[in-house]
Amino acid sequence: MREFSETYLRRTREGMWDDSRVPLEPLDLETRERVLDVGCGTGELSRVLASECSGEVIGSDVDRRLLSVAGEHVPVVAGDAFQLPFPDDCFDLVVCQALLINLPEPAAALAEFARVSSELVAAVEPNNAAVDVDSSVDAENDLERRARAAYLEGIETDVALGSDAREAFEAAGIDVLETRQYDHVRTVEPPYSEHSLTAARRKATGAGLADDRETMLSGEMTEAEYDDLRSEWRQMGRTVIDQMEDGEYRRTEAVPFFVTVGRA
Ligand SMILES: C[S@@+](CC[C@H](N)C(=O)[O-])C[C@H]1O[C@@H](n2cnc3c(N)ncnc32)[C@H](O)[C@@H]1O
Repeated sequence: MREFSETYLRRTREGMWDDSRVPLEPLDLETRERVLDVGCGTGELSRVLASECSGEVIGSDVDRRLLSVAGEHVPVVAGDAFQLPFPDDCFDLVVCQALLINLPEPAAALAEFARVSSELVAAVEPNNAAVDVDSSVDAENDLERRARAAYLEGIETDVALGSDAREAFEAAGIDVLETRQYDHVRTVEPPYSEHSLTAARRKATGAGLADDRETMLSGEMTEAEYDDLRSEWRQMGRTVIDQMEDGEYRRTEAVPFFVTVGRA
């Protein structure tokens, strides 16, 4: 199982759902009475659900360290998505965000969601193969594309699942009602946030890339190709820092997320 840090989840979800919550409309949140957010991590989605819904929202995750952070905002219960610790039909919405892309058998998890939901099952999942980056450092666009291609070759789960989640729903015997796209756009521009400064430092040291080294080497990338990529990556990171010092660095990243809603 991939592990996620609190910092990573905060940084990647920063501002998500601030621009628009229209794509969440099919979840019919105003009328929900009991909602379960599976694989809630630090509870980034749980908080959005709790603010939109008058009923109770519960977060669940296998990682107790992350769950303790989510527990500061909503009630939480430790549990595995494949074997949820709840009786049949005890929620009227069971939802996850960026969970299925990390699971070996997403349809089996969805079938378990349907067991504990009396009404709706939903998934908010990205297509990580279609992420779009536009940076004022020319090399960053190309290096991100190369790193992402190597990562996608090496990862065992379907991290592009978002746009095709309907197939997993149907395999789980759930009728899909609707799918909506939501592009999560993150912009880095002056004045730079603490997160952006940390991300730039991690580029210059190669630490960010090193987190995905093993995955990249599990695909077709050789160690020599990884070392070349890392050295170009670090050079790119130093250019990012130089541009930040002059207030000239700008970067936009758009991650397409898909909200798929079905009837349990
Ligand atoms: C990418 S994070 C997403 C967290 C959160 N939903 C969000 O959008 O910020 C994936 C989460 O799924 C959890 N997870 C992975 N496998 C799981 C499983 N079998 N059952 C429950 N949670 C799981 C991880 O611990 C992690 O918190």
